[in-house]
Amino acid sequence: MEFPFDLAPVLGDRFCVVDQNLRPAGHRGPNHRGDLEQQLRTVIDELGKASAKAQGLSAPVTSAARMESNHHVLYILRDPDGRSTPRGAVVGFLKVGYKKLFLLDRGGAHNEAEPLCVLDFYIHESLQRHGYGRQLFQHMLQTERMDPWRLAVDRPSEKLLSFLRKHYGLKDAIPQVNNFVIFEGFFSNLPVLREEVEPPWPLNQSAARAGGSPLRGSLRPFLRPADRRTEPGQGHTDGAQPRRASSLGRVGR
Ligand code: ACO
Repeated sequence: MEFPFDLAPVLGDRFCVVDQNLRPAGHRGPNHRGDLEQQLRTVIDELGKASAKAQGLSAPVTSAARMESNHHVLYILRDPDGRSTPRGAVVGFLKVGYKKLFLLDRGGAHNEAEPLCVLDFYIHESLQRHGYGRQLFQHMLQTERMDPWRLAVDRPSEKLLSFLRKHYGLKDAIPQVNNFVIFEGFFSNLPVLREEVEPPWPLNQSAARAGGSPLRGSLRPFLRPADRRTEPGQGHTDGAQPRRASSLGRVGR
């Protein structure tokens, strides 16, 4: 995907990460900053339109304006040295963000979670099935320090489902009532927060003796490690991960 301007100062190297601040990568000096910002907006808007078209959506879910009003992160893959495209070309993009969701586990119980969500993903038509999607996805996983089975995917297309199955072995979806798809392993890798609250002995014997149903734990929301650290009396033992994609993004895809 080409643009009528040099992409190097706008997007920098191969991978460009853009957040709410829409900062271009280039360092041409303050005089050019406005131009570069406008060019970055153009790139994001055009990518959003192309993705919507590829998915048959009535309107883009990714645009510069939406990026500004959400705490999402855009990973853009650029082809810096295309011989026929001296200004460089954009290969595609991946948008992720944290969202608060109610998700069903295998047993059908509701769990409040705030996973990193795959919100939009597009590789230019001429370059699909060349491994670029995987490069981009892999870069995102490494940057976010995320396991693929811990992601929630917003309305995945058949192509994306096939992609996730092929590259990450994600095939056993846990049925949901919303548009998100999660896979086996999603809950097992979140910190254990839906605690089984067991009364002390001998009270814990009574239900079993009476043949009653097992004690059900409180439906405590899943929290990310970063949040858990803020809870009173809780130590930080699990090496909380840095999160580029902000946890505040809860508006739209
Ligand atoms: N049909 C079926 N599966 C496909 C197709 C296709 N046309 N294209 C890619 N895939 C899947 C397959 O599993 C393929 O492996 P295979 O060729 O052995 O069958 C695998 O992806 C190839 O992996 P990559 O080359 O790394 O993926 P690619 O660069 O093509 O990127 C992507 C994958 C982003 C899904 C791309 O195909 C695309 O942009 N599709 C159109 C837009 C789209 O559907 N985006 C996802 C929307 S849902 C959302 O964003 C939450």
